[in-house]
Amino acid sequence: MTPGNADGAPAGLERDAWGSRWGYVLAMVGSAVGLGNIVRFPFVTSEQGGAVFVLLYVVAVVLFGIPMLLTELTLGRRSQRSVVGTFEELGGGHWGKFGVALVFFNVFVMSWFSVIGAWSLIYVWEGLNPAYWDDPTGFFFSINEGPVTLGFHAVFITVTVGIVAFGVSKGIEPAVKVLLPLLGVLLVGLAVYALTLEGAMEGVRYYLEPDFGVLSAGTFVAAAGQAFFSLSVGFGALITYASYIDRESNLSTDSVTVGFTDVGVALVAGFLVFPLLAAFALLGTPEAAQGGIGVAFLALPNAFATIGGGLGVFLVLVFFGLLFVAALSSSISLMEVGVSWVTDRGVPRWKGVVLLGLVMYGLGIPMAFSSGLLDFAAGAFTDTLLLGSAFVIAVFLGWLYRGKLGEDPVVEMDRGASGFRLGLAAFWLIRFVIPVVLLGLFVVAVWTLVGDVGALL
Ligand code: TRP
Repeated sequence: MTPGNADGAPAGLERDAWGSRWGYVLAMVGSAVGLGNIVRFPFVTSEQGGAVFVLLYVVAVVLFGIPMLLTELTLGRRSQRSVVGTFEELGGGHWGKFGVALVFFNVFVMSWFSVIGAWSLIYVWEGLNPAYWDDPTGFFFSINEGPVTLGFHAVFITVTVGIVAFGVSKGIEPAVKVLLPLLGVLLVGLAVYALTLEGAMEGVRYYLEPDFGVLSAGTFVAAAGQAFFSLSVGFGALITYASYIDRESNLSTDSVTVGFTDVGVALVAGFLVFPLLAAFALLGTPEAAQGGIGVAFLALPNAFATIGGGLGVFLVLVFFGLLFVAALSSSISLMEVGVSWVTDRGVPRWKGVVLLGLVMYGLGIPMAFSSGLLDFAAGAFTDTLLLGSAFVIAVFLGWLYRGKLGEDPVVEMDRGASGFRLGLAAFWLIRFVIPVVLLGLFVVAVWTLVGDVGALL
């Protein structure tokens, strides 16, 4: 086997590498599984017609998400460099600038992602605070903006910095080996509890009952958008993680594993959220109607407060602990994208981590003081960037790779895969289908963005 830093890295630069395949698959799952699965998915599903949407979402993951995962993994493993080095080396010319843009997109996502991570921490921390138990709705509006939010935003970033500073094999890998099993236990435990509540089945029906009436073009957009966001494809997180893989692993198997685990977590999250809402008569209430954030930070806290006592406190700790763990394992990857760029340029890792942490903290300050701005940043703005950059990555592999490098992208996708290989099928989707779909989605996203900017002004 060729070691991870066998080629591509500048002479004399020893690149970090994953200790094991299991380690990097967990890290990729950790990047994928996040607030998108637990906060965003259940809400979008109920808004978009339940079972019909779930089906479209799974189709989007299989047809678009998994080929995009395979694309990013192939590019990163091939270049053995950060996103900037990857596009510089494989694309030449000005392509490095696209890589730099990707670093900024990750920094930007982190600026709002970490504020929501900070809210989760506040709930874990203040679960025993009487202000919460007396009035959960009022409590949320007392902590969702302001100096306390900013303080916890700093804590969240500091924890991320603390993990990433130790590197890939000594920081990220050991961290995900603890975080992901913990996430699994918390998630399944809570879902089992929720399903045993009286009235739970009403929630399951609400979640999964197909409502063909709401099916529209927007449903397809929502399904594909959710698939991309949830899998973390489009911003180069997986290019970065794959740059630390040795050349022999089966990337088809890895893509399918990550894709299906991510879908599985989202589906289970639905079995947790809706039974809880139904059991406490919170389905369709104003709290639950305020987007994913309303469900997670208003409706469910009201349910926990109604349960009250030791069990109530325990549930607050478990649910918000779950959100925190999910957010953290994603934010690690949001940070590593930029860190790998600076370390590839010879800057010591700890310096790069601290610098990036400070930039992320700074950009998050406005979000910590204005949840309206946060909504805007997390919604249409992120979607637009994500779909646009996923489009560029798809076109790059589908149309430019062979010409630039004179090598067959399918061979590179299938390298190390014996038996199960998706290279050819994925390549044709990436070349002909996915760019068209992404372009259509991008136009819709820009349209929504223009509307949102209008609303913000
Ligand atoms: N996928 C993560 C989630 O579901 C969020 C995330 C992490 C992400 N890194 C990303 C989304 C890169 C897009 C691109 O919460």
